[in-house]
Amino acid sequence: MTNTDNWQLLITNVNLATMTNGGQDYGTINDAAIAVAEGKIAWLGKASELPNLDSCQFEVIDGEGAWLTPGLVDCHTHLIYGGNRANEFEMRLQGKSYEEIAKAGGGIVSTVAATRAASEQSLVDSAAPRLQTLFEQGVTTLEIKSGYGLDTDNELKMLRAAKTLSSQFPVTVKTTFLGAHALPTEYAGRADDYIELVCHEMIPAVAEQQLADAVDVFCEGIGFDIKQTEAVFSAARSHELPVKVHAEQLSNLGGTALAAKYQALSSDHVEFLDEAGISAMADANMTAVLLPGAFYFLRETQLPPIDLLRKHNVDMAIATDANPGSSPINSIQLMLNMACTLFRLTPSEALAGVTCHGAKALGLGDNKGKLAVGYDADFALWHIQQPAELCYQFGVNPLKSLFISGQKVH
Ligand code: NIG
Ligand code: FE
Repeated sequence: MTNTDNWQLLITNVNLATMTNGGQDYGTINDAAIAVAEGKIAWLGKASELPNLDSCQFEVIDGEGAWLTPGLVDCHTHLIYGGNRANEFEMRLQGKSYEEIAKAGGGIVSTVAATRAASEQSLVDSAAPRLQTLFEQGVTTLEIKSGYGLDTDNELKMLRAAKTLSSQFPVTVKTTFLGAHALPTEYAGRADDYIELVCHEMIPAVAEQQLADAVDVFCEGIGFDIKQTEAVFSAARSHELPVKVHAEQLSNLGGTALAAKYQALSSDHVEFLDEAGISAMADANMTAVLLPGAFYFLRETQLPPIDLLRKHNVDMAIATDANPGSSPINSIQLMLNMACTLFRLTPSEALAGVTCHGAKALGLGDNKGKLAVGYDADFALWHIQQPAELCYQFGVNPLKSLFISGQKVH
């Protein structure tokens, strides 16, 4: 007998994309119902199998035949930053590359100058519309990185701004410390000294103030090398912070294989990842986070190794990478479309990328990203006839309503 005494909400007359099969398919249950108790999924199944509800005390919502998916997860964003880089967009249109601009003192460090100049409150205020946009597209969980402060005070300021921003929305936000994003100009020629600062001052401060849930490094020719990356991973682990990495985006330095040795949550970008790195990821149960917005915006031609990731059963998440330089895109819907059109993911793989696998990339794989009993009752209800529509079109928003912990929030 199902106990319905503590149910708070029942949504009936819906089709469920449970996303419980890792993206092999949608895990569809047609003509279904789903019940919530204490903010978690208490029951789901065919509506015809619902227990007897004669004297129900809870709210019942008629889904009118719509589709219900887990609330979407954007597991890689740089949502907090000062200024923008439209001028560099123009430079790139005149023929300069992302790397050339970075080497000439533009790129990430130009956003660092604008972020340092911005007050904490103005960082919150400028990021709020970006988060609002994601929220209106069904995002209920997201990650926000630091990495444009590049000194202790400004990195902490960014992380506090992310926390303040998250308190203004009902969404779940995971914050990531990315002090090793770029070399600040005052450390030019002294990258090892900067890494010392990251490891011995910034990470301890971030850990002590509990401002981050993970530590990330940009391991790249224009970022930090393998030895420097390892020093940051080791400092993070000694403060019991999980690690992740921006790796193999522009070249193959082996950052992903190194991250696997530190049981990293994810390796992100991965266009240049080789099979040895993929096999290391599989052994460490890491998630590959694919960022089609950056691939598109930088006009990358090297595709991520999708077939090899499939062959080794590495879970693939999809995220916006929303940032002012390489992916000024706050659209999870566009990412779903690009994951299919540019990377040739199937629509069910793409949807898994922004649900179950996105949640896993944030260490939330047992709580979020699936419709299953015991999971958090974060749902998006969509005006669509079939789930592939979420990937097929963008620019028209099919979101009907959004629930977080079983509460209607939109
Ligand atoms: O994820 N790869 C490094 N970091 C960002 C780019 C940040 C920027 O250009 O401001 C990324 O693509
Ligand atoms: Fe990024």
